[in-house]
Amino acid sequence: MACVVIVGSQWGDEGKGKVVDLLTEDARGIVRFQGGNNAGHTLVVGEEKFIFHLIPSGILHQGKACYIGNGVVIDPQVLLQEMEKLDQRGMPVGSEKLRISDRAHVIMPYHQALDLAREKAKGKDAIGTTGRGIGPCYEDKAARVGVRMIDLLEPEVLKAKVEANTKEKNFWLTQYYKGEPLDAGHIYREYLEYGNILRDYVGDVPAELHEVLADGENILFEGAQGIHLDIDHGTYPYVTSSNPVSGSVSSGAGVGITRIDEVLGIVKAYTTRVGGGPFPTELEDDTGAWLRDKGQEFGSTTGRPRRCGWLDTVVVRRSVMLAGITGLCVTKLDVLTGLKKLKICTGYRTPEGDLIDTIPASLERLGACQPVYEEMAGWQEDITGARSLSDLPEACRVYLDHIAELCGCRLSIVSIGPGREQTIVLHNPFA
Ligand code: IMP
Ligand code: MG
Repeated sequence: MACVVIVGSQWGDEGKGKVVDLLTEDARGIVRFQGGNNAGHTLVVGEEKFIFHLIPSGILHQGKACYIGNGVVIDPQVLLQEMEKLDQRGMPVGSEKLRISDRAHVIMPYHQALDLAREKAKGKDAIGTTGRGIGPCYEDKAARVGVRMIDLLEPEVLKAKVEANTKEKNFWLTQYYKGEPLDAGHIYREYLEYGNILRDYVGDVPAELHEVLADGENILFEGAQGIHLDIDHGTYPYVTSSNPVSGSVSSGAGVGITRIDEVLGIVKAYTTRVGGGPFPTELEDDTGAWLRDKGQEFGSTTGRPRRCGWLDTVVVRRSVMLAGITGLCVTKLDVLTGLKKLKICTGYRTPEGDLIDTIPASLERLGACQPVYEEMAGWQEDITGARSLSDLPEACRVYLDHIAELCGCRLSIVSIGPGREQTIVLHNPFA
C-alpha cells in the first residue's frame, strides 16, 4: 500500500497527464485534489490523443477507480461532456469507475461570467486566466456561499443558494461590469438536472479512499497546474486560486499527509508559462519560437501559445522544497534535440549585483532580476527510441545529471516522447 502524489514543478503543462497514465498501472485509485477544468491533461495512447480537463487521466484503464476530491471545483457541464466523449469512444464511465466528492464545489454560470468580466476590466493587467470561473468559485467557497455537489441533490437548498447568489452576482455583473444579468430560475433547473444525472457518482470520497488503503492498495494523486501557480507559493497574483502543492491532498482529498510515501515532481526539460506574470528565463527570440513550435506549446485548454524559455532550476529547486518532492521526472527531453547549446538557469542576479538562488516575493524585485546561466552542450541524435539511460547521447546524460544535482533531488523518470513506451523508469515511486 502506497500513496504517490504527482505535482507540476513549474507553471503547469509539464506533461503530468502522460506520467499519471503510466503510473496508473500500479494504482487502484487515481485522485484529483485541486483545480478544475482550467487544467488540460493530454495523453497519447497508440494513435489516439485524449485531452482531459476534469476527469483524472487514469480513466483510460480497466479495473481502476477515479476520484474527484472535495478540493476540486467542478463544472458539471464539462464533466458530463467528458463522460459523453469517453462513452462515444467505447469507454463508458460508470459510477463504480468515477467517484465525485459530495463536498466538492460547483462552478456556476455566474462564476464564469465574473471571471471573464474581471479579466476584461483588468485590461493589460489581466492575469490571463483560463476564463473557466475557477477563481470566483473558490472565492464563494471561502465566502461560505458556494454550491457543493451535495446541494445539487437537495432541491430546496440549491434553489435558495442559487437565488441568493445570482441576485448578488447580477448586481456586480450589471452595475459594476455593465454586462447582462443571469436568470436564477434557469440556472436552478439546469443544475438540478445535473444533480439528477450525477447522483450515483456522488459520495464520501475520503471514506472510500480509506477503504482502498485498508485493502492494501495503492493510490495516485494527480496534481493540476504547477507549484509556481500555487495561490500561496506562486507568483501572486499571477497564480491560480488553489494549492497545487502536494500537501493539499490532505485538505483536497481527505488523506492525511502522514499517508504519503512519495512525491514525484514533473519537470519539463525547458520552461513554459501561459497567461501573465514573471518568467525570468523567458525567450522572446527565435529559440523561444523554436521551442514552442517543436514542443507544440499551445494550451490544451485555451489553445493560447505558451511562453517558452530555458530550464530554471531556481524554480524547480524551490518546488522540491515546497512540495517535498522525492523524485524528479524530466519530460519532453526530445524537444531539445537539435539545439547546439543549452542554457540552464542556476540563480538570479539582483540589480545590486548580488547572486541569489531564491524567488523574491516582490514581483517588482523578481522582474528586476536577471537569470544567471550555465551553458551546456546540446545533442543532435534522435533520442525518441531510447529505452535506458545508456541509449542516450553523452551530452543528454550530462544535462539530466546536472538537473538532478542543481535541484537537489534524484532522477526517477525520463520521458522522451508522448507515447507510453517512450519512457525510461529509473525508480518507480510505487516500488
Ligand atoms: P485560472 O486558474 O483559470 O484562474 O488561471 C490563473 C492562471 O493560471 C493563468 O495564468 C492560467 O493560464 C494559469 N493556469 C491555470 N491552469 C493551468 C494549467 O493547467 N496549466 C498551465 N497554466 C494554467
Ligand atoms: Mg495542461
